[in-house]
Amino acid sequence: MENTNKNVSLPFFGIPRIAPYLKPFRRLLLTMVVCGLLGSVMDVGLPMLQRYALDHFIAGNTLDTLPGYITLFVCLILFASCMNFIACNGAMKTENQVNRDLRAAAFSHLQTLSFSYFNQNSVGYIHSRVMSDTGRIGSLVSWSLMDCVWHSTYLIGSLIVMLSINARLTLLVMLILPLIVILYSLFQGKLIRANRRIRELNSKITGDFNEGITGAKTIKTLVIEDKMAKDFLEDTAEIRKKSVSAARLRGAFAITMHLASSLALAIVLWQGGYIAASEVGTFALFMNYAQGMMEPVRWIVDAISDVITTQVNIERLTRLLGTKSDVTDTPEVEEKYGDSFNPKRENWEPIRGDIEFKDVSFRYPDGDEYVLEHFNLSIPFGSSIAIVGETGAGKSTLVNLVCRFFEPTEGQVLIDGRDARERSQLWLHSAIGYVLQTPHLFSGTIRENLLYGNPNATEEEIERALKLVSADEVVARMEKGIDSDVGEGGDLLSTGEKQLISFARAILANPRILVLDEATASVDTLTEQKIQAAMDTVIKGRTSLVIAHRLSTVRNADLILVVHNGKIVEQGTHGELIAAKGYYYRLYTRQYEDEATSSILA
Ligand SMILES: Nc1ncnc2c1ncn2[C@@H]1O[C@H](COP(=O)(O)OP(=O)(O)OP(=O)(O)O)[C@@H](O)[C@H]1O
Ligand SMILES: [Mg+2]
Repeated sequence: MENTNKNVSLPFFGIPRIAPYLKPFRRLLLTMVVCGLLGSVMDVGLPMLQRYALDHFIAGNTLDTLPGYITLFVCLILFASCMNFIACNGAMKTENQVNRDLRAAAFSHLQTLSFSYFNQNSVGYIHSRVMSDTGRIGSLVSWSLMDCVWHSTYLIGSLIVMLSINARLTLLVMLILPLIVILYSLFQGKLIRANRRIRELNSKITGDFNEGITGAKTIKTLVIEDKMAKDFLEDTAEIRKKSVSAARLRGAFAITMHLASSLALAIVLWQGGYIAASEVGTFALFMNYAQGMMEPVRWIVDAISDVITTQVNIERLTRLLGTKSDVTDTPEVEEKYGDSFNPKRENWEPIRGDIEFKDVSFRYPDGDEYVLEHFNLSIPFGSSIAIVGETGAGKSTLVNLVCRFFEPTEGQVLIDGRDARERSQLWLHSAIGYVLQTPHLFSGTIRENLLYGNPNATEEEIERALKLVSADEVVARMEKGIDSDVGEGGDLLSTGEKQLISFARAILANPRILVLDEATASVDTLTEQKIQAAMDTVIKGRTSLVIAHRLSTVRNADLILVVHNGKIVEQGTHGELIAAKGYYYRLYTRQYEDEATSSILA
């Protein structure tokens, strides 16, 4: 897990880092600021108009300038409303677009990261970077910015007007400001902590809820419904308690702020007595400003604290955006072959499918033990390689290296005689069909999933691919056939069915290199036998790497690699390995006996 709290103390420190994402909005931001400023200046002007009305029309007892006054008043209000509307509209646009841009950037960047990033960071963690951090940043550069503009303009403007009219009274009223800032900061710290705790509890409850649903079966079989429900109740009780005390805190805060602004009014009332009786307008003006000054202070403190707290979000998001993949193409390679989003297919050499491991040693980026050491192997195009061995032996690791999901710690993997790193990842991946040990389908229909393999596949090609791996029977069983929905992650299908569909999808892509990692581990024996019979057709014209636990399925491979504790302990054809009477022989005979026994019993 990434450390989330490093380097986050300097306020404003992170803003320059998101500046590139704000660049397209320079004009919009400027318009917002200018309009917000003008709107606020108008707000400052309104009490002055009121003062005029009181002094002129009421105290002066004349209505001579009334039409002009009313026109000016209405114009001012209309103008201020227009300005504020434009500013609000701009803020809304900026918030949404910055949000969208940051999300898109984060999502695209995630596509380029290697597997180890996803191994090291949980889905929940990545999810909140992409969804909630971007949201906080979007609202910072729109609403918090506008709050600062609106309220500091009002505060400064009203102070200037007040000072110009009665400096002594203004200075007295200003004495309240530090008090309010201090009071507010005190409360705000507490409120933030209380809200943070509520959010934490909330996400824990969401997590529990999620586990309660996704793990429903496991919960039932472990008979822990009772415990799960109790944990859940405890959490909800705590969140209720915290919410009530947060609400109390908010109440106390509102009352205190009210008292503080009353204090400002009291000062004006007390000292205002010295203002001449003819200046009733000035008196009202001071009352107006003194009362209106409290809210802006609060908003400004809020906006500043937003800037500070959002530093964490900026820091985490920019760290994600700045994370370099463990597997990257060099600039020269990118120049020639393009990147994932702009491939230069015209420069791609057609891939043949020769694979060679040259003195390869490998350990996982976060592991300290070598999974492979000084491994050499040449796999000419068209050959079928089987990889067998016990759980955790290193079989998947071996094919991950071929696919360049990881790169060798030392040594080279050659594709068509050249180091895989000399050409782009996309070039290699476009030639590989991989049926994963844990198959994944995308939500949508079976047809849509198959078309991910080859968007231009014809109806006949789809049917042929389905038939080849016996997935046609799966499709036939479904209510809407090939147009049936597979659910999120393919969850409406059984694991075996998912394997067959993803197998068909891989075939449809017509890859030069085919990797089957336990591709048929979850299908029944009969279906597996059918696939086995079709295997010759499936692997014809391709280099194939087949990982299998059931050794009877790999007897026909050109070469069998026996992996044990991360080392290739034996290699050869089935006949050779049986004759050698080594590790493979023992594995095979044991499995054979087991299978024979179970078939007799059946
Ligand atoms: N992403 C990873 N990071 C660190 N270590 C890993 C990672 N993936 C696998 N390993 C370790 O590497 C070793 C080989 O794992 P690998 O997945 O290659 O085994 P396997 O032979 O495919 O096993 P299985 O038959 O269960 O699929 C294991 O000890 C495993 O713990
Ligand atoms: Mg594996």
